[in-house]
Amino acid sequence: LEVSNFSKLLLKWHEKDNNRQMPWKGEKDAYKVWLSEIILQQTRVEQGLAYYDNFLHNFPTIKDLAAANEKKVFKLWEGLGYYSRCRNLIATARMIAGHYGGVFPGNYNDILSLKGVGPYTASAIASFAFDLPHAVVDGNVYRVLARVFGIEEAIDSTTGKKNFHQLANELLDQKQPGRYNQAIMDFGATICKPVAPLCNHCIFKKHCVAYSCNKIQQLPVKEKK
Ligand code: ADE
Repeated sequence: LEVSNFSKLLLKWHEKDNNRQMPWKGEKDAYKVWLSEIILQQTRVEQGLAYYDNFLHNFPTIKDLAAANEKKVFKLWEGLGYYSRCRNLIATARMIAGHYGGVFPGNYNDILSLKGVGPYTASAIASFAFDLPHAVVDGNVYRVLARVFGIEEAIDSTTGKKNFHQLANELLDQKQPGRYNQAIMDFGATICKPVAPLCNHCIFKKHCVAYSCNKIQQLPVKEKK
């Protein structure tokens, strides 16, 4: 399957058949994108939704969050676990309020340097909020690429990670990286699912290596169990 054809099919699916609705989809406010991505780092979408809404209700802007009482913020985080995320959220909001005048930084390296933001989250914020060409590579993306392209390299090996990231960035639609990234994540979450993927409805059915070789359940490969 050609690079340009993969992106074309995926974006067409996104436009016509992607019914997944989440409040942060299409969001351009970097504060809201950042908040949603921090919540989703270790929390399922279904559980994260109410926390996202509640946070934004209490802290509509990053300046509100920066000025907030810490105890109140932790109280709103209660139940989500991994409380270092909440500490980093407060520290980063205050840093942006102080160092950046309350304006969320708009380039990849500045975003990556924020506390609690790793390469995945930085790519998500950079692409969703600023349309910068950085491919997100989360579990969904590893699975879709491993299956469609029949990649048997372990996704948790050093070279595997590097090669998947390289392929992901080659496939990324340079003109609409945010849309493309959202599309591939939603596709992995709703069609190319870990268990019982919907291969019969899949736009890549004719091209998918894993499907034609009966390797859907073997891919992606993990080194460590
Ligand atoms: N998980 C993390 N970020 C996401 C997003 N923007 N959409 C769906 N799932 C996600």
